[in-house]
Amino acid sequence: MAARKGQPAGQLQFAFEGSPVEQSGAKVKRVTARKAKKTKVKKATAKKAGSKRSLPKKRGGKSASVKSVKGKVAGKKRSVEPKKTAVVRRERKQAAATAESMADKQRSISVSEFFAKNRHLLGFDNPRKALLTAVKEAVDNSLDACEEAQILPDLLIDIRAVSDKKYVLKVRDNGPGILKAQIPNIFARLLYGSKFHSLKMSRGQQGIGISAAGMYGLLTTGEPVQIVSRTNPQRKAHHYHVQIDTTKNRPQVVLDEECEFELATGTSVTITLEGRYLRGRQSVDEYISQTAMANPHATIVYNAPDGERFEYGRQVSELPFAPREIKPHPYGVELGLLYKMARDSGTKQLTSFLQSEFSRVSLRVANQICDAGKLRRTLRPSRMTLKQAEALHEAINKTKIMSPSTDCIGPIGPDELEAGLKRVVEADFYCASTRSPSVYRGNPFLVEAALAYGIKGNDNGEAEKEALMRLNRIANRVPLLYQQSGCAIYKAVMDTNWRNYALSQSRGALPTGPVMLMVHFASVWVPFTSESKEAIAHYPEIIREIQLAVQDCGRKLGMYLRKRKRIQQEMAKRSYIETYLPYIGEALQDILSLKARQVETVVGKLKTVLEKSRKF
Ligand SMILES: Nc1ncnc2c1ncn2[C@@H]1O[C@H](COP(=O)(O)OP(=O)(O)OP(=O)(O)O)[C@@H](O)[C@H]1O
Ligand SMILES: [Mg+2]
Repeated sequence: MAARKGQPAGQLQFAFEGSPVEQSGAKVKRVTARKAKKTKVKKATAKKAGSKRSLPKKRGGKSASVKSVKGKVAGKKRSVEPKKTAVVRRERKQAAATAESMADKQRSISVSEFFAKNRHLLGFDNPRKALLTAVKEAVDNSLDACEEAQILPDLLIDIRAVSDKKYVLKVRDNGPGILKAQIPNIFARLLYGSKFHSLKMSRGQQGIGISAAGMYGLLTTGEPVQIVSRTNPQRKAHHYHVQIDTTKNRPQVVLDEECEFELATGTSVTITLEGRYLRGRQSVDEYISQTAMANPHATIVYNAPDGERFEYGRQVSELPFAPREIKPHPYGVELGLLYKMARDSGTKQLTSFLQSEFSRVSLRVANQICDAGKLRRTLRPSRMTLKQAEALHEAINKTKIMSPSTDCIGPIGPDELEAGLKRVVEADFYCASTRSPSVYRGNPFLVEAALAYGIKGNDNGEAEKEALMRLNRIANRVPLLYQQSGCAIYKAVMDTNWRNYALSQSRGALPTGPVMLMVHFASVWVPFTSESKEAIAHYPEIIREIQLAVQDCGRKLGMYLRKRKRIQQEMAKRSYIETYLPYIGEALQDILSLKARQVETVVGKLKTVLEKSRKF
C-alpha cells in the first residue's frame, strides 16, 4: 500500500494492521457501514440479473448469502452464453475470408478511380476550392502553352453562374492550339501530358491538372468537357465534347465536329462544374489578381460570375526567358533509379552512359567517376550488377561535378516583379531581389522576392497598419493560395527577424504593417507537398535561399523606413523653429528692451544656429 501524500507510510500501515485506537469507536462503525453497503449493491446486482426468487435471509456471516446469490446468477449466465457464443462463432467462421475468396477480389485500380475517390488530393475538396482549382488548371495550361510557343498570352476567363451551386467556366487562350488526335487524351485521361518527363521550368508538371478538372465536372454535373482548338489559321477549328471513363482511365468522345473560332490559333476549354463563388482571400478573384502580378507579360480579361469585369493590361511587352530542357544532374539521382537507368541503357560503355544520361558529365569527369568506384570504364551498363551500381552511386557523390546548368529556369526579374506589384497594389515603396540559382537534390532552383510598403487601401491604409503582412507565394509563376502554414516560404518568412527592418513582429507570427511580400520559387521540379500543388516542401536548401532573398528586401525596406523616420523628425523640428522663434523674439524684445531691427537680427542669427544643428 502506497502512502498517501503528506502522510508517512508507517502511519498508514499501522492503521490497517488494526491498532486498538483505530478499531474502537467511529472507525468500527465506518467499517460495518461499508460492509452493509457492499451487500446492498450485490443484492441490487442480483435483482438486475433477473433472479425472481427473493434472496435468502442473512444467516450470520455475510459470505453465505452473497455467495449463494452470486452462484445462481453466474449459473444462469453460463446456461445462456455458450449457446450465443456458438452461434456467433459459426457465423464468424462462415463470413471469414479464405485465400481463395480474397484472391477473387483482387483487381487493379485505375488511377482515375483512385482520384475520383480522393479528389481532395487534387484540390477538389469543397465547392469553393474546386472552382478555384479548375480555373487554376486551365489558366496554368494556357500560359504554359503560349510561352512554349513564344506567343505573348491573351487570356479570357469567363465564369457564369447557372445556379448558386452550378457554374460554367470557360478559359480561352491564343496559344498554338492542340492537335486533333491529342484532344481526347489531354482532357479526359489522367496522367497524360508533355511536361512530366522534361526537366524544364513550367507551371504544370504532373499531367493530371486539366483532366482532373474535367473529371470533377463530370462527376458533379454529368456534363462533358467542351474544347475548341485551332492549330492552323487556314483551317477550321476542332470542336470536341469528351468525358473520362473512370474505370479504364480512357477518354470517351461525345461530339467531334469542325467549327469557326474567333482567333487564328488557340484553345478554349469549357467545364460545367459544381462550385461556389465567394470573394476574398483564396478566391478566384485573388488567384487571377496574383497571376496578373506574377505574369506582367500577359493580358488577362476576367468576367466574374457576379457580372464584374476585371482587365489586366500587359505591362511588359517582352516574353519571359525561355527555359531550356536539361538532363538530370548526377548528384540528385537515387541508387534504384541509377541501377534501372543503367540496365535500360543502350550505350556500350559506362563512360558513354554517364555522359549521355546526365548533365555536367564530360569524358574527364566520367573517367574520374569510374576510377573512384574502381569500375571498368568499358563496363556494359546493361550488364551492371546491383553491387556495381552501389559503387557507381558512391563514386558519383565522391567526385566533384559542376553544379547543374541554370538555363532551364528563368526568373521573373526584379524590374518585372516590381511592375507586377504595381499592377495590383498602390504603395509608397517597392523593392525586389533575385538570387542566383542554387540546387536541391540535384534540381536547380532560384528564389526571388518583391515587397511593397505603405499599401493604400480604401481607407488610405489605416486598417493595414495593424494587419499582418500579406504574403503572396508563387511557384513557377503560379500563385499558391492554400496550405500557407505548411509551406517552406511561410516558414522562411516567419523565421526572419523583421524587427531588424523596422517592422513590428510577435513571436511565431508574420510581421505587421501595410506590407505585401511576394516570394517566387522557380525550379525544374517544384517539390510540392501534395498533388494539389499548394505548398512547397521544407528542404533546408530552399528555406535558406528564400530567407536570403527576403532579407535582401528587408534591408532595403529598413533603409527606406529609417530614412523616412529621420526626414519626419527633421520636418517636425523645422516646424517647431518656425512656430516658436517669433515668440522668442518678442520675449527678448521685452526683457532686453531691443529695437525692432535688433530683434530681427537676433532672431535671424538664432534661426541660422538652430538650422545648422539639424542633420539631414
Ligand atoms: N491550352 C492548351 N494549349 C496547348 N496545350 C495544352 C493546353 N492545355 C493542356 N495542354 C497540353 O496538355 C497536357 C496535359 O495538361 P494537364 O494540365 O493535364 O497536365 P500538365 O499541365 O502537364 O501537368 P499538371 O497536372 O501539373 O497541370 C499538357 O502537358 C500540355 O501539353
Ligand atoms: Mg496543367
